[in-house]
Amino acid sequence: MRLGINIDHVATIREARGGLEPDPVTAAHIAEFAGAEAIVCHLREDRRHINDRDVRLLRETVKTKLDLEMAATEEIISIALDIIPDLVTLVPEKRQELTTESGLDIIGNRKTLQTAIQRFHKKDIPVSLFLDPVDEYIRLAHEIDADFIEIHTGEYANARTIQEASEQLEKIRHGAELARSLDLGVNAGHGLNYANIKPIARITEIEEVSIGHAIISRAVFTGLERAVRDMADLLIRYSNNDDISAPED
Ligand code: PXP
Repeated sequence: MRLGINIDHVATIREARGGLEPDPVTAAHIAEFAGAEAIVCHLREDRRHINDRDVRLLRETVKTKLDLEMAATEEIISIALDIIPDLVTLVPEKRQELTTESGLDIIGNRKTLQTAIQRFHKKDIPVSLFLDPVDEYIRLAHEIDADFIEIHTGEYANARTIQEASEQLEKIRHGAELARSLDLGVNAGHGLNYANIKPIARITEIEEVSIGHAIISRAVFTGLERAVRDMADLLIRYSNNDDISAPED
């Protein structure tokens, strides 16, 4: 399972003072040195963190894979068609929200999403749709020719009981299996952290996780390189089942 690092929060700190530091582009490079296999950023309509200059420089300098998260609005679509990210992830966007709150309303926005996918495909840009793990949504993503889905893991991450977490996990697992059976690639993200990543890392259908807040938060205390390495190590250990101790002789 690949580790994608979302660097929006580095830009949020920069914007707190409106200057040049800390630079999310530098963060992307450090994350790559430390083992990140994709860099994720969200160019929001209100430019509250990542801005146009960041996306341009990231496109020029990211050596792994640039995943641009965005709403399917005309302005941002034109920027993406110009930049040509390695992957576009379409997400819903509300101005008042602190972070993306849910998966896409793929039923209500079917036409808009389908048209956006067609425009990206004309430039050979693969498209992922950020979705709650609901069968109907996943089948529709396949019908409108998405290449990937990113399963919204927020409900799992916010679960308040073990029972609730395992129910949400089951939905994620089932959604990932269904998507793979339809030949969709599967990513996952939102609210994932060092404590809740273990069962997610064991879902073999998930190709990539996108993690931001937990890693940037840990980086405040340990440095970014260490924070990325810690998560990359966990992904390797858990996905290989290395944490299961051998039975005693
Ligand atoms: N995936 C998507 C689609 C997101 O919108 C976000 C938040 O920017 C993430 C993943 C990462 O979430 P978190 O910051 O909680 O790790």
